[in-house]
Amino acid sequence: MADTQLDIQLELAADGPRRTALEVAIRSAIRSGRLAEGTALPSSRAMAVDLGLSRSTVVAAYEQLNAEGYLRAEHGSATRVARFRAPPTVDDEPDPFGPAPLHDFRPGEPDASSFPRTRWLRSVKRVTNGAPDSAFGYPDPRGVAEFRSILAGYLGRTRSVEADQGAIRVVGGYAAALGFVAEMLRHRGVERIGVEDPTLPMHVQLLRAAGLRTVPVAVDEGGIDVDRLRASDVGAVVVTPAHQYPTGATLGSERRTALVDWARERNAWIIEDDYDGEYRYDRRPVGALQGLGPDRVIYVGTASKSLTPAVRLGWMVVPEPLRADLMRVTNLRSMVSTIDQLALTDFIERGDFDRHVRQMRVRYRRRSDALRSTLAEVAPWLALGDGAAGLHVMARIATDRLDETTILTASDAASVGLFGLMTHHRSTAAGPGFSIGFSRPSEHHFPTALERLAGVLAAL
Ligand SMILES: Cc1ncc(COP(=O)(O)O)c(C=O)c1O
Repeated sequence: MADTQLDIQLELAADGPRRTALEVAIRSAIRSGRLAEGTALPSSRAMAVDLGLSRSTVVAAYEQLNAEGYLRAEHGSATRVARFRAPPTVDDEPDPFGPAPLHDFRPGEPDASSFPRTRWLRSVKRVTNGAPDSAFGYPDPRGVAEFRSILAGYLGRTRSVEADQGAIRVVGGYAAALGFVAEMLRHRGVERIGVEDPTLPMHVQLLRAAGLRTVPVAVDEGGIDVDRLRASDVGAVVVTPAHQYPTGATLGSERRTALVDWARERNAWIIEDDYDGEYRYDRRPVGALQGLGPDRVIYVGTASKSLTPAVRLGWMVVPEPLRADLMRVTNLRSMVSTIDQLALTDFIERGDFDRHVRQMRVRYRRRSDALRSTLAEVAPWLALGDGAAGLHVMARIATDRLDETTILTASDAASVGLFGLMTHHRSTAAGPGFSIGFSRPSEHHFPTALERLAGVLAAL
């Protein structure tokens, strides 16, 4: 066999069996393209001398890689790199969220740096140590019993939701809940569903993907316009009564009653998205709509704003007549991590959840106040929505001098993230402007981020 003079740099791991280390090094050189198809490898003897290995080790490694298809050995000629097409790496796939701006005022996420790591870890440790063996089997597709039981109490206490454990279903966040509910409604013959206009386009897409026709229904400072809803011939509607997204309106009490009346008269269903109901700064949080119409409202809550979207935990309170259908539709897809559910149970039980929300409420209120006073100073041409709740504020452009695209271009250039009412919400209902989230920057970065945002707006 002709010896090749190939100079290949193979970095062998310092520990572990030599044969494995050589295999790993050759495999990675082929995968990365450093050893191209058809390249002849040194003979086993030469390779053994080069690397200070025994010849039998190199022969065994070559044989293994030959069997795996990385190398091909032809009788009487050198061992060569076989045809190898690298599978696409994860990095080749576009990131669905794109790169995050340095100073991120897009709505949607709480301050990740404030996640209570130590206390959460304590809960995870406690439940992992203390849970019975049965907890390590498949999760109950309705949600873990202890979690549903504690949620029933928590939701009644903090959100005036009327629910017992049997009504609660645990899922992977609001997005999962909405997808399942949409499929279930479709299955029950609902074809058209009302959505607030404006709203989050990704939720509209989710409903459409399940086969529903979405019908935009106008929203004003009192929340969804129930008269328009009545005229829209839909079998269900999705609403954000505590804090309309993105306008910030709270659904007034007369409209709440009218909405539930509409659903009862029409045998329609209301999906209540209670995404940030815990955050109210002027008074106690407004109770959930579900308390008024538990027979017609599918309530959905989430840990995404109150704790973190990373645990992917959300909960639905489902009227009895829908439960069997929902189970049929979700089947085994609704299962979420038992450990996380038990950890959040423990976290709530010990008062850590309430403590965290209380602490964050103080911080977010401070941020909301700082944002409002800064905007009033540097951009008086922005008309701000109600600031008494939530983690974002709607800011409409109240001047003809500027348009949304110009401002977005300027903020992009400064790596200041903004979410345009028209551009990103794909609606003209609220006119040009932004949904400005103030929760994403870390606590220590917030003042700098605010300065950068102010700088962009002041320069326009
Ligand atoms: C209007 C609205 N609803 C619900 C959610 C929560 O979604 P999830 O529980 O899927 O994280 C968000 C998060 O950004 C939201 O903005």
